[in-house]
Amino acid sequence: MVSLERFRWWHVEEVLPIERHLFGVEPWTAHHFWSELGQVTTRHYVVAVDEGAVVGYAGLCDYPDEAFVQTMAVAPAHQGQGLGAALLLDLLQEAERRGQRKTLLEVRADNEVAQRLYARHGFRQTSVRRGYYPGGVDAWVMERT
Ligand SMILES: CC(C)(COP(=O)(O)OP(=O)(O)OC[C@H]1O[C@@H](n2cnc3c(N)ncnc32)[C@H](O)[C@@H]1OP(=O)(O)O)[C@@H](O)C(=O)NCCC(=O)NCCS
Repeated sequence: MVSLERFRWWHVEEVLPIERHLFGVEPWTAHHFWSELGQVTTRHYVVAVDEGAVVGYAGLCDYPDEAFVQTMAVAPAHQGQGLGAALLLDLLQEAERRGQRKTLLEVRADNEVAQRLYARHGFRQTSVRRGYYPGGVDAWVMERT
C-alpha cells in the first residue's frame, strides 16, 4: 500500500539513488534537495512511500503568479501503476489550494511517458526551449490553466 507523505529532510538520502538513476546526466544533489526543502513558504514536496521505502517524489514551487512543477520521479520498479498521476494530482491540489490559476513545467522533448501523463492532467505544450537539456535536447514548456 503506497501512501503520500510530506517530503522531509530525512528522506533526502533515500531519494538520491532514485534521482541519480533517473536523471543520470544532471541529477540533483543532496544540497539541491536541502535547498528546496529549506524554502518552506514557497515549496511543496511530497514522497510516495511503500512499506516504509521511498519509491517516488515530486515538488512544486509557488511563484507569485504561477506554480511550477520542480521535479517528478517514480522508481523504475514502481512505474506504470498510477504513482506519477497520484504525485501530480497532489501538486495540482496544492497549487489550487494556494490560489494558483496556472501551473507550468518543463519536460524533455523525448520524454513521451511524462508528456502523456501531463497531457492527461490538462497540460498543453506552449513553447520549446531549444537545446535546454544536456546533449542539446529541447525542453517542452507545458502549461495548465
Ligand atoms: C514520468 C514518471 C514520473 C511517470 O510515473 P508513473 O508512476 O510511471 O506514472 P503513471 O503510472 O501514473 O502513468 C504512466 C503510465 O502507466 C499507466 N498506468 C497508470 N496506472 C496503471 C496501472 N495501475 N497499471 C498499469 N499501468 C498503469 C498510465 O496509463 C500511463 O501510461 P500511458 O502514458 O501510456 O497512458 C516516471 O515515468 C518517471 O519517474 N520517469 C523518469 C523521470 C521523469 O521523466 N520525470 C519527469 C521529468 S519532467
